[in-house]
Amino acid sequence: MEKITAIRGFKDILPEDTGVFWKIESIARSVFDSFGFREIRVPIMEKTDLFKRSIGETTDIVEKEMYTFSDRDNEHITLRPEATASVIRAYIEHNMFASETVTKLFTIGPMFRRERPQRGRFRQFNQIDVELFGENKPQSDAEIIFMLMHFLKRVGLLNVQLEINSLGCPACRPDFSKAVVAFLQGSEKNLCPDCQRRIHTNPLRVFDCKVETCAVTIASAPSILEFLCLECNDHFEHVKALLHDLNTPFITNARMVRGLDYYTRTAFEVKTNDLGAQNAIAGGGRYNGLVRDLGGPEIPGIGFAVGFERLVSCLPAEDNNKFKMDLFIAALGAKAQKMAFHLTNQLRTHDISADMDFADKSLKAQLKKADKFNSSFALIFGDKEIEEKQVLLRNMQTKEQQNIPLDDLVNPLIKIIKER
Ligand code: HAM
Repeated sequence: MEKITAIRGFKDILPEDTGVFWKIESIARSVFDSFGFREIRVPIMEKTDLFKRSIGETTDIVEKEMYTFSDRDNEHITLRPEATASVIRAYIEHNMFASETVTKLFTIGPMFRRERPQRGRFRQFNQIDVELFGENKPQSDAEIIFMLMHFLKRVGLLNVQLEINSLGCPACRPDFSKAVVAFLQGSEKNLCPDCQRRIHTNPLRVFDCKVETCAVTIASAPSILEFLCLECNDHFEHVKALLHDLNTPFITNARMVRGLDYYTRTAFEVKTNDLGAQNAIAGGGRYNGLVRDLGGPEIPGIGFAVGFERLVSCLPAEDNNKFKMDLFIAALGAKAQKMAFHLTNQLRTHDISADMDFADKSLKAQLKKADKFNSSFALIFGDKEIEEKQVLLRNMQTKEQQNIPLDDLVNPLIKIIKER
């Protein structure tokens, strides 16, 4: 029969790779906990309007990349392309702002974007997402960026570059947009059809275009930093000074606009040279109007998301996720097999990882299997040992062997294994 394969851009994370995901998750939990963030889990599907209203109707994500369906009752639903909108929806829906002025949340899970799959770019991928609500001070920008860089360092990622920018606010950005439109007028023929359209719908998106001629054209456009209002400029200068204080190196990239429309003021990305074209490991920024735009109160916010798969692929390959086991029970003969079955399951309830072979193969074959499982010990017995009321425990590394009385087997075994 023809085999059914996974959907293009959707990939399995195999047992030999899940260990590194676990490890990174546990570092994330510990780092975020020190900075006062708590975990929230939100659904992977939301009403389509949530993403349209937050990410922006004229972004690539909303225009081209969302998995949107009509549910059976004709409700428009979307597999989340990112987590920020969902976390804000939950923050508003559960009135979290009513009980605390600052709320710090994180969530980890799959996101879905129908992009063209390539190295480091998938249609289902995982993000580690962090959001902070209720604080507009530059200290919170610096703190969240510092936490991101500290987390990446703890994970073992060293060869990265932090880029920051300010995207202004509704008071100053419109002037910048106008200046970009004026700059592009007359150069339309050098732009791709998408960007020719973007001039009228969302001019800042031209900065994000990967088409060579668009990138060349926009390269000499005015800088947003020259258009910042006094407050936005002060904020940005303060964030930069605080990052210096925290010994967090960065470069200012005035062309970085991010691919989502909700950002105001500080925006940042962490890039690596190890990933080819998909060089962003993490991205984020401030979104001061978004909680309000999604129906909540006027509460500022800032956050970031790390691309889990991209992070993993930048780390040196480790061999530490080899399957390991405490004890393999090699039982020879029907009577021994019956006892071994009981013993294996009993030991497992004491947090000892144990296994056996039900096929009652030769001792040699069973010990081979113990080796394959990377078992620390093998317990060997057959009819003769049962009659003599003692079994043989072999240390699979040192090959040392010892007898253990059959009548009092479980507790001594647990002790030896745990003390190893
Ligand atoms: P983003 O820049 O769209 O931001 O995504 C964050 C990270 O997710 C990227 O830097 C990248 O590492 C990873 N990523 C994105 N798309 C893919 C893909 N197709 N395959 C693999 N990895 C991918 C956001 O999603 C914002 N919600 C971040 C944020 C949180 N801003 C404020 N709070």
